[in-house]
Amino acid sequence: MIRPRRNRATAVIRDLVRENEVTLKDLVYPLFLLDGKSKKLEISAMPGQYRWSADLLINEIEECLKLGIQSFVLFPVVEDGLKDRTGSYSCSGKNFYLKTITQIKRRFSNICLISDVALDPYSSDGHDGLVEDGKILNDETLPILGEMAVAQADAGMDIIGPSDMMDGRVGYIREKLDLAGHKEVGIMSYTAKYASAWYGPFRDALDSAPKSGDKKTYQMDPANKREALLEAELDESEGADFLMVKPASLYLDIIHVLSEQSKLPIAAYNVSGEYSMLRLAAANGLIDYKQGMQEMLLAIKRAGANVILTYFAKDFAESLFKNMSS
Ligand code: PBG
Repeated sequence: MIRPRRNRATAVIRDLVRENEVTLKDLVYPLFLLDGKSKKLEISAMPGQYRWSADLLINEIEECLKLGIQSFVLFPVVEDGLKDRTGSYSCSGKNFYLKTITQIKRRFSNICLISDVALDPYSSDGHDGLVEDGKILNDETLPILGEMAVAQADAGMDIIGPSDMMDGRVGYIREKLDLAGHKEVGIMSYTAKYASAWYGPFRDALDSAPKSGDKKTYQMDPANKREALLEAELDESEGADFLMVKPASLYLDIIHVLSEQSKLPIAAYNVSGEYSMLRLAAANGLIDYKQGMQEMLLAIKRAGANVILTYFAKDFAESLFKNMSS
């Protein structure tokens, strides 16, 4: 009889035949940055995740580096008073996000820092693009995104992450970066970003929910797969260095198809709702946290992601060291 169970008989044999493994080098840890000093505020919608002021964020990054996490994506939490229609604070010389990038890169020159380019953290409308009469303006948004990307690259970002889903923005940003002398700064494009309910906790963290309407005229319809291939083709031809799928665990088929069709590295964003859902289920004793987290990340990797942006990054690293639940 052919017995597949022979290859599952012991932990050592299972280790030998394991086809996929998540390593710390695959992971990017998203962090939320606040203006000010000595602040560490827990995000109630994301237990275990915090908004940090720069001084404490630097300590947190140092702790993560000791655990083996070396890539981070940074999001700014901007006060309402600084938000306006055009998100002008995003490129202001006073912007704490830009100043902190420089500070972090000066302190830890070897880490990889990834930015977020979109209007929503800075916009009084809470949308990723400029709003006029209830409409999101595509081409009028591009110069703002271009300027934001260049300001972030000037500040020291390694990789620019446009998360806005405006048409043509990857090519536009690439051109502006090149003109500004940032030929070496990469673009991780949010290629297939779906209009998802799973961003809810993040919008709470940033207080960035749309003031009116939804994001369905720019983020993708969860029903569509072939459209992701079109977005991928465009981003690739416009000069993206990474293609991202977001969210991750409900969109494994999209990760898979992009990884088969593109030669670029595929990133997957394991978003706030995916994190909070497991966190809260675990807190209620329904699902084992470590096993659930490891399985979720593994499934994303198995689907074809080279890079995983995940709020589990630090807990995952700790779970490896403590050698828990294997
Ligand atoms: C917005 C942006 C969002 C996320 C990253 N960048 C939210 C949105 O599109 O409304 C979500 C990340 C998460 O849920 O973890 N530019």
